[in-house]
Amino acid sequence: VKGHILKTIEIHGKTGHSAIYVGERLKNLSAYLPETKVVIITDENVAEYYQQDFPKIPVIQIKTGEGIKTLDTASNIYQQLISFEADRTVFLVGIGGGIVCDVTGFVASTYLRGVRFGYVPTTLLAQVDASVGGKTGVNFMGYKNMVGVFNQPEFVICDPNVLHTLPDRELACGFAEIVKHAAIADFDYFVFLEREAQNALALNPEVLERVIYDSVMIKADIVNRDETEKGERRKLNFGHTFGHAVEKTTGLPHGEAVSIGMMVAAELSASKGMLTENDVDRIRSLLSRLNLPIKADTDTGRILDALARDKKREGDGIHFVLLSKIGEAVVEKITIAALDRVLHHISL
Ligand SMILES: NC(=O)c1ccc[n+]([C@@H]2O[C@H](COP(=O)([O-])OP(=O)(O)OC[C@H]3O[C@@H](n4cnc5c(N)ncnc54)[C@H](O)[C@@H]3O)[C@@H](O)[C@H]2O)c1
Repeated sequence: VKGHILKTIEIHGKTGHSAIYVGERLKNLSAYLPETKVVIITDENVAEYYQQDFPKIPVIQIKTGEGIKTLDTASNIYQQLISFEADRTVFLVGIGGGIVCDVTGFVASTYLRGVRFGYVPTTLLAQVDASVGGKTGVNFMGYKNMVGVFNQPEFVICDPNVLHTLPDRELACGFAEIVKHAAIADFDYFVFLEREAQNALALNPEVLERVIYDSVMIKADIVNRDETEKGERRKLNFGHTFGHAVEKTTGLPHGEAVSIGMMVAAELSASKGMLTENDVDRIRSLLSRLNLPIKADTDTGRILDALARDKKREGDGIHFVLLSKIGEAVVEKITIAALDRVLHHISL
């Protein structure tokens, strides 16, 4: 029996349909599984904390860290699937953070030309971002997510209870994407986050469920309109264009780099007369209350160099997501020179 579901959100894409159950429990996973053979893919940490709650079915365990998100890991999983005699009726379930979800989706999309799959995301970032939208893939030659496909998981079970074991820094990374969602799409949600920041950090169950629900709704809505990132979905890159360059140059975790990237995008928006200084202050203050950095102690020249090499660069400029106000995003092409001029006014 399926229980504890707070709300269901659906994605209807060309690459499949996905139902996201916010508030469902990992313990109820077996109610969502087909009669056929099911194999779980998880990582070492998640297995250690939660394997006792998994249904009693075969488990493939991978190691942790961005370095294992590779074709070698996928290849190792294919081998284990073959040793389990998994045929085209096999159903794969990824239980873990964004890495486990991305790898599971990729393996499921390619093994025997594609088998069914679902996710139980166990990090805040995976619940509000990585498990939603159907991007799957692995890194290649040091490039992130270089090889992969769009394909929707059949179900996503977001159980807020598993977040209590998550390290603080991982939690903060999830909140960076959450602030992003509010900033690009929903002013009321932004105000809610301002009011409830402390409760959200303390993992208050009601606050957390609303946060996961609102974030998934915003991402699902954008994905439903633009599954393969031809236009609308680019708005989800708010803070990411500059953030990726910060991540590469400083080695900061993704969410922390995105936080700095959002501050740069907010300042850029203000310099174009779109946001007020007060709006920029509100974004800065919310990010720091959620334990996210708002400055990087790095020479901006190095970050700009990394940015100039970024794969998202197109022609003479870079697509940058700016805010026309808190709760509304626009995509504009910015030249490196224009960005450089603005960075001089930004105290990094
Ligand atoms: N597909 C997408 O649309 C999409 C979107 C955003 C990010 N991503 C990808 O997601 C990845 C990052 O995801 P992430 O931040 O979840 O990282 P992650 O998968 O590395 O998980 C972070 C750490 O937390 C541990 N962990 C997971 N759940 C836990 C729990 N409940 N309690 C304690 N520890 C737990 C993991 O073992 C890991 O050490 C990146 O590879 C990124 O490219 C994909």
